Amino acid sequence: MRIAVCPGSFDPVTFGHRDIINRASTLFDKVIVVVTVNLNKKPAFTAAERIVFLEKVTAGLENVVIDTWDGLISEYVRTVNACAIVKGLRAVSDFEYEFQMALANKLLNENAETVFLTTSSENMYLSSSVVKHIAAYGGDISAFVPKVIIKDIEERLEQLRNDPNFVLK
Ligand code: PNS
Repeated sequence: MRIAVCPGSFDPVTFGHRDIINRASTLFDKVIVVVTVNLNKKPAFTAAERIVFLEKVTAGLENVVIDTWDGLISEYVRTVNACAIVKGLRAVSDFEYEFQMALANKLLNENAETVFLTTSSENMYLSSSVVKHIAAYGGDISAFVPKVIIKDIEERLEQLRNDPNFVLK
C-alpha cells in the first residue's frame, strides 16, 4: 500500500489545503494528514481543534485519515511506513523554505521523498494567516475556508483579538 503523509500546521485548514489533500487522495492508496508542531508559529487553535476541523473538511474522503505528531516528520514517515510527504506549493516564495525542508527530511530519512503539488490558481494567494487576519477584523472568510468551520474560526479570532497578549504568528 502506498501511503502519503501530508503534514502542516493547518491553523486553520483552508480551501488550499483541502484541494491538496483531495488531489493526494487520488494519487496514493492512503493519505495521513498530520497536524504537526511548527516551532516558528504560535497557533490560534489547539491541535485537537485543528483535527476536528480537518475531520469535518475531509469527511467523505475514504482513504484520508487525520493524526497529530509533535516530533520530526521524517520520524513519523518511518513510523507509518509512508513512501511520500505531500506538500502544496503556491508561489516562488514557498519554494526555498519547502526545498530546504525536503532536503532535511531526506537526509533524516532516506525514504522520506517529498512530492510537491502545485496549488490550483484560485488558491494561489490563500494562507491560514490571511484567513486569521481577515477573521480578526470581522471580515468575510467564506471564500477561503469551508462553511462547516467558519463559525468556530470567527468566534476564536474575535476572542483572540480582545486578548492583549495575542499576536498572529
Ligand atoms: O503548515 P506549516 O506550518 O508550513 O508546516 C510546517 C511543518 C509543520 C510541516 C513543519 O514545521 C514540520 O514538519 N514540523 C515538524 C518538525 C520537522 O520535521 N521539521 C522538518 C525538519 S527541517
